[in-house]
Amino acid sequence: MSSRAQQTDSRIEVLLNEPIGTIAPEIYSHFVEHLGAVVYDGIWVGENSKIANVGGIRKALVDALKKTKPAVIRWPGGCFADQYDWRDGIGPRSKRPKRTNFWVDSREWSSKANKTGPQVYDPNHFGTVEFARFCQLSASQPYFAANLRSLPAQDFWHWVEYCNSPNGSTTLAAQRAADGAAQPLNVRYWGVGNESWGCGGNFSPEDYAIEFKRYSAWVPGYGVPLRLVGSGPNGGDIEWSRRFFAKAAERGGLGKMWGWGLHHYSWNASAGRTREWFAGKRDAVKFDNEQYYEILKECLLMEGLITKHWDAMGVVDKAHRVKLAVDEWGAWYAPGTEPFAEALLGQQNTMRDAVLAGLTLDTFNRHADKVAMANIAQLVNCLQSLFLAHEDKFCVTPTYHVFDMYAAHQQGQSLRVVTNAPEVRYDRNGSPATLVGLSSSASLKGKQLVITVTNPSLDQTREAEVAIKGGAGKSVTATVLAAADAHAHNTFTNPDAVKPAAAQVAVRGGAIVHRFPPASVTKLVVDLA
Ligand code: AHR
Repeated sequence: MSSRAQQTDSRIEVLLNEPIGTIAPEIYSHFVEHLGAVVYDGIWVGENSKIANVGGIRKALVDALKKTKPAVIRWPGGCFADQYDWRDGIGPRSKRPKRTNFWVDSREWSSKANKTGPQVYDPNHFGTVEFARFCQLSASQPYFAANLRSLPAQDFWHWVEYCNSPNGSTTLAAQRAADGAAQPLNVRYWGVGNESWGCGGNFSPEDYAIEFKRYSAWVPGYGVPLRLVGSGPNGGDIEWSRRFFAKAAERGGLGKMWGWGLHHYSWNASAGRTREWFAGKRDAVKFDNEQYYEILKECLLMEGLITKHWDAMGVVDKAHRVKLAVDEWGAWYAPGTEPFAEALLGQQNTMRDAVLAGLTLDTFNRHADKVAMANIAQLVNCLQSLFLAHEDKFCVTPTYHVFDMYAAHQQGQSLRVVTNAPEVRYDRNGSPATLVGLSSSASLKGKQLVITVTNPSLDQTREAEVAIKGGAGKSVTATVLAAADAHAHNTFTNPDAVKPAAAQVAVRGGAIVHRFPPASVTKLVVDLA
């Protein structure tokens, strides 16, 4: 250890000889729901709009998203999915029906919202082919969530037929061609319902297991190896996993199931959940130290959720053929910071959210053997979004920058990392509480090692020695996302208040020494000797 390293307060050891698994690009995936201003205004502006667009799709969004290598985008819900009839979104746009949106009666609408527009009465201008085009433009793959609660199983495979049957083969392929997509869309990822324990039908796990079989027993892929995702648990509901797998395993096993969906949102639960389940939510921008740390604590629950559900799945699926698909995650705050009134569940996104994203993505990377996909909720104008967009205004959020930085991990070999740092200490409702001091993950591709490190402390810089066990660093570059104040955020008028910067890193005797500023996310890219 160099004399400089001896002064450090923390140590991160990357173990080159302890691979965990390949980091699936799908861990860096997204979620788009017909909810508030996600689709209309956020993504779809229409072909005749003055806003720069490609076939009706907001160009600025596509250009920025593409940079982050988005693997998969999930659509059309969420809760909306189990109300959606995919046939409403095909055929000539001018003839498509207008339908009442699932979220019409949400209690979280701003009183100032115009409730006559597409956010409430969906014109279905953004349907299957438009969504597929959006995915193609942003170089990602579509993941469709099928309606299990209110459409028959027959409609599910008909939707697959519309998307994937060869050009000229079926009536639905001819319809797809008339809609502008002669060649098959080759959709691989299909969700079989959404939150079937809640808005997706209030099923018991046993009831849902039977439904899952009805929907998945016969679905032709047309040469595409389908990856079906079951509607998995709400956070820590281990019984949902255990009982579903036990029931599904009867007579015929898990069939074509590839992923088991896990949903986990972070909110200030410690503030007390009353009958109003959202009473624990707090403001996205005005937060005190306790609220800052508590929401990070919520996101750190992800580690235990992954391992506990994994163990429950393994009782039946001993070879772990089915992996976890965390297809909704992120911070969820109280209404009040929407970028504009129609953006239902829209919220600002501060440096705190960037820290939350860093902690969560590091968790997924460290469990690359278990997590096959993860979709942050949601892409634009909703919850922990990467973008805010309204009319001709557009900006990226601090969370966007984390995705941009972490894209370097995709398809790398996840390595075991041992991190030692003094715990964060804070006051939790008058009692002492602690949080992890530093969080990190590492991946290797050839001779390039990517290490990401998040410092959640609001006031402590951590100086760490980063030791590479089984190799040595030759050169290093660092990218740091930090702000003088964790409340910092980007707006339409100040879009670069939070943005990453390059930093100098010292390499001494093969080891790296770096100072990680408070409330920061850092990426180190190391060329190995
Ligand atoms: O992302 C918002 C909602 O949260 C989704 O529609 C639902 O699946 C979840 O409860």
